[in-house]
Amino acid sequence: MFLLHILGLAGTVSATAHLDRNLAYHSPFENHPQFARDTREIHARHVAHARRQAISAEGFDDQHYPTFYGGDFSNSPFVWSGGVNFTHSGEFLPGDPLDTSVLLWTRAVPLAVAKKGSPVPMQSPESFPICLSYVVFDNVDLSGYPVHSGEAYTSYDVDFTVKVEATGLAPDTQYFFQFADCTDPGSVSPVGKTRTLSNADTPAERVNGGNNLTLAVFSCSQYQAGWFNAYDFAAHNISADVFIHLGDYIYESLGNGAHIGRQTLGRELATIADYRLRLNQYRTDKGLVAAHQNAPWITVWCDDHEVADQSWKAGTANSNDSVIGCSFSPSGACFTDRKLAAVRAYHEWMPIRQVDADDKLRIWRNFKIGKLLDLTMLDTRQYQRDVTDLYYNTAIVINTIKTAESRSLMGPEQETWLNDTLTSSKHRGAVWRVVGQQIVFSQLFEERAFDLDAWDGYQANRARILDHLQAGEIDNTIVLAGDSHANWVFDLAHPNVTSEYDPVTGEGALGVEFAGTAVTSTSPFGAGISPAAADNISTIIVGENPPLQWSEGSYRGFFSLTLNPNTAVATYYAMRNVSFSNTDGFASAVFVVESGANKLSRPVAGGNVQAGVLQSQVNSTA
Ligand SMILES: *[C@@H]1O[C@H](CO)[C@@H](O)[C@H](O)[C@H]1NC(C)=O
Ligand SMILES: *[C@@H]1O[C@H](CO)[C@@H](O)[C@H](O)[C@H]1NC(C)=O
Ligand SMILES: *[C@@H]1O[C@H](CO)[C@@H](O)[C@H](O)[C@H]1NC(C)=O
Ligand SMILES: *[C@@H]1O[C@H](CO)[C@@H](O)[C@H](O)[C@H]1NC(C)=O
Ligand SMILES: *[C@@H]1O[C@H](CO)[C@@H](O)[C@H](O)[C@H]1NC(C)=O
Ligand SMILES: *[C@@H]1O[C@H](CO)[C@@H](O)[C@H](O)[C@H]1NC(C)=O
Ligand SMILES: *[C@@H]1O[C@H](CO)[C@@H](O)[C@H](O)[C@H]1NC(C)=O
Ligand SMILES: *[C@@H]1O[C@H](CO)[C@@H](O)[C@H](O)[C@H]1NC(C)=O
Repeated sequence: MFLLHILGLAGTVSATAHLDRNLAYHSPFENHPQFARDTREIHARHVAHARRQAISAEGFDDQHYPTFYGGDFSNSPFVWSGGVNFTHSGEFLPGDPLDTSVLLWTRAVPLAVAKKGSPVPMQSPESFPICLSYVVFDNVDLSGYPVHSGEAYTSYDVDFTVKVEATGLAPDTQYFFQFADCTDPGSVSPVGKTRTLSNADTPAERVNGGNNLTLAVFSCSQYQAGWFNAYDFAAHNISADVFIHLGDYIYESLGNGAHIGRQTLGRELATIADYRLRLNQYRTDKGLVAAHQNAPWITVWCDDHEVADQSWKAGTANSNDSVIGCSFSPSGACFTDRKLAAVRAYHEWMPIRQVDADDKLRIWRNFKIGKLLDLTMLDTRQYQRDVTDLYYNTAIVINTIKTAESRSLMGPEQETWLNDTLTSSKHRGAVWRVVGQQIVFSQLFEERAFDLDAWDGYQANRARILDHLQAGEIDNTIVLAGDSHANWVFDLAHPNVTSEYDPVTGEGALGVEFAGTAVTSTSPFGAGISPAAADNISTIIVGENPPLQWSEGSYRGFFSLTLNPNTAVATYYAMRNVSFSNTDGFASAVFVVESGANKLSRPVAGGNVQAGVLQSQVNSTA
């Protein structure tokens, strides 16, 4: 069979439809050419190549065309037919589920490229588009008629990534999907599994078919610091419906992981090639592969390290757009170039949706999951954050401006949107408001010092949010945080206002915060610190912070949040050893929040934890 794929059939389909269907070309914002690939230009390149008809005609075996040497297929570029390698085998990232659609992701590298081991020989004008077909079924055997199917192209322009939207799906339903090489339908990817979420109007008790909805929450996965056992454990040992990543999914730094078989490739990240290579390497981790295969993910693209350490809107600790700030970073890349590269690579490699085609950076977005919850994902890092702690400015600048009224962590637009989203969530009758964001929200003295890179460096902004919850009588708010590499569980309260909040009973609290430890990144209490030594530090910190009800700093891991209309239950999981691949983990503490209570249930964690220190163990009378 001669396999020829034709673009622009019969004028009804746009000539670039196959390219446009792959959202990676619009990575991330199609209205902004700095980010997006111009699919018309790529199409023209393919057409120009097709006209020269450079591929071998050997495969064309047809008695009616005995002397075929290549014709003018000006408007019908060939697609690559030399085979593809689904390089991230089994790796499909169903992401950003809505009620009737979900994003599907894969990567398909033409075999010639893979064979030569050369990254991009296809960058010559000879390039062909690579055509992938995809099918979505409601059963694991992929039998019967697909509920959705389509074809899309990829090419070296987007690092051979494919991100398509499957639409017309039923809410709250599990689906299975597979990609195939259009030119060789037998060459298929493994089957991926995903699901849709409830329609916004589904009554709370009917969400997820009336079952609990469980979110698995991760942050700070540094390749060289350890194996991603937390992902593996979450994929195999608990049942989570959605995986959430709060940032630091990759790190720009190199480190030295050789002693645990985790040598990082490349250099400190600065260019698009650097960021792609790093995402590529991270996604070879066995635990991460399993986790992506198992469930849809919802991610916020940034804590700082998806760009670089201590990032804020106009710089990082070692880069900005000043002459010195450019020369300081690897390859001499200036900050804005670095940020553009990081954002683009992230959108190519992650199944995240464009939120607003006119906004160059917006990823903050809200998921209405029936009337059970609003899951509100923020960008507290890259969007419009005022200057942060950059190490050289801590004492002189940040420490003096940390309480300034004008200081903003999210930018006015996002802050207005957050206020409105919380209010309208209450008005639409959603039971829970879960706010997923990067950095620790509550005030946290760590042995008399604040982390000024967290909300403690933006105290007036935090107060405005707490005021909004209080004034609007917005109940059942649960803040999620990552970034800190340790576990912290708080009742949400205005800092220092002892007249309003009672740490023994929790009366007066405005909600709760669950901050989770890192998947692998090292403890702020000291790399590899033992549980006993970490508990000594936790004891001091818990004593300094009345709303802090639990602190744990030894184990790497994650937590899950299980929601139903009556309770929210957070279970913290500790992984025993991340220096080799394993799923040896245990639940270290379980926290219950009753709907309407706006505080952790007492006794906190049932008065009994397997690791870490409870407020009640330090300060029984507070
Ligand atoms: C496919 O890609 C994987 C991952 O890069 C590589 O290990 C494997 O050798 C490739 N297979 C072929 C046939 O090129
Ligand atoms: C749902 O969650 C609640 C609270 O954690 C728990 O008591 C209950 O057993 C769970 N139900 C199921 C079916 O797992
Ligand atoms: C830019 O970065 C350099 C190197 O870190 C630093 O010395 C300089 O103060 C920074 N400039 C600004 C305006 O932030
Ligand atoms: C959000 O609400 C708080 C409390 O009402 C208010 O102080 C703050 O100004 C609001 N933020 C914006 C950006 O409107
Ligand atoms: C709470 O008090 C401490 C001093 O004990 C101060 O450093 C901190 O800024 C205060 N927090 C707020 C939000 O006022
Ligand atoms: C923890 O503190 C106790 C009491 O001060 C001390 O005896 C013990 O040695 C400390 N443990 C570690 C591991 O530092
Ligand atoms: C983790 O595993 C490594 C490799 O087996 C071992 O050397 C190390 O002692 C273990 N660490 C802990 C804390 O058990
Ligand atoms: C996690 O699941 C794996 C695979 O089923 C199993 O081998 C392992 O023992 C489980 N780990 C724990 C701690 O239960």
